[in-house]
Amino acid sequence: MEKDLSGKIALVTGSGKRSGIGYAVARKLAAEGASVIIADLGPNRDTDLAVETGTEDEMAAIAAELRETFGVSTLAVNLDVTRPDSIAAMVDRVRLKFERIDILVNNAGASFGVPNAVHTYDEGAWMKTVDVNLHGVFRVTRAVLPMMMAGGGSIINTASRAGKVPPLFNGAYAVAKAGVIMLTKVMALELSGNGIRVNAICPGQIATDLEKWRFGLEAQFFGSSVEEREREMCKTIPLNRIGKPEEVGDLVAFLASSRSGYITGQAINITGGQLMEL
Ligand code: NAI
Repeated sequence: MEKDLSGKIALVTGSGKRSGIGYAVARKLAAEGASVIIADLGPNRDTDLAVETGTEDEMAAIAAELRETFGVSTLAVNLDVTRPDSIAAMVDRVRLKFERIDILVNNAGASFGVPNAVHTYDEGAWMKTVDVNLHGVFRVTRAVLPMMMAGGGSIINTASRAGKVPPLFNGAYAVAKAGVIMLTKVMALELSGNGIRVNAICPGQIATDLEKWRFGLEAQFFGSSVEEREREMCKTIPLNRIGKPEEVGDLVAFLASSRSGYITGQAINITGGQLMEL
């Protein structure tokens, strides 16, 4: 049976770690028939990062797993979204194997220097956070677009609920994610004539390393446990649970496919009802 994304080629940034959203997205796209480029930090890991990052070994293992499980083409490429030279090298590697890209998922994200109020935030940590989360999306998209222009496609940017609702002591991340939402809308307008749809997703609480780390920080701050913080969080979520990375994968697969062909310029919440907007 023809799958929804058969013949499509997808690039997912920050997809080289099995516990992350990027991997779940890449797996879902491959299950729907897309060839997938797994792009992650590999040896370029920033030592200030608080959570694990995608290693070269894990990226290669993921690429092999998706190829063997779903019979699609895959490629694992090192990528640091903060470095133009790394992005250019990635595009060169991709061009050797694929002639175009149909789906770009800007998923890589990170937070530095938290918890801190804006007035105590370290300037370098602020800049790095905005650089990864916002400028990374700009840089990667600009570099990849020449491979999308002829055939059209779908770009999905991972923003956050934090880009819409101010979080405490995580200002740089929130500002960057709000920027991703506006960047999404600007690009959706600019690229509409090229057959390229651009949407953002705004996850709430999804069970990954990033989320666990955040609950850990909160536990220290409030003098409670990670489990207690998670229980408290669930009380604010109408569906009363933390989301799964696979559920984000389902949303991205929908936005990547022609089933969402009339949707562009949107920032779609996936929060278990924690965020409801008119
Ligand atoms: P994670 O920390 O588990 O994964 C992030 C991935 O991005 C890692 O594979 C890491 O190696 C990669 N990465 C970090 N810096 C990079 C760089 N400079 N260049 C290339 N890759 C880089 O986080 P998670 O939870 O899987 O997050 C994925 C995306 O979803 C991020 O953009 C995050 O901000 C966003 N998000 C996550 C939420 C959650 O509850 N987990 C909620 C809202 C948004």
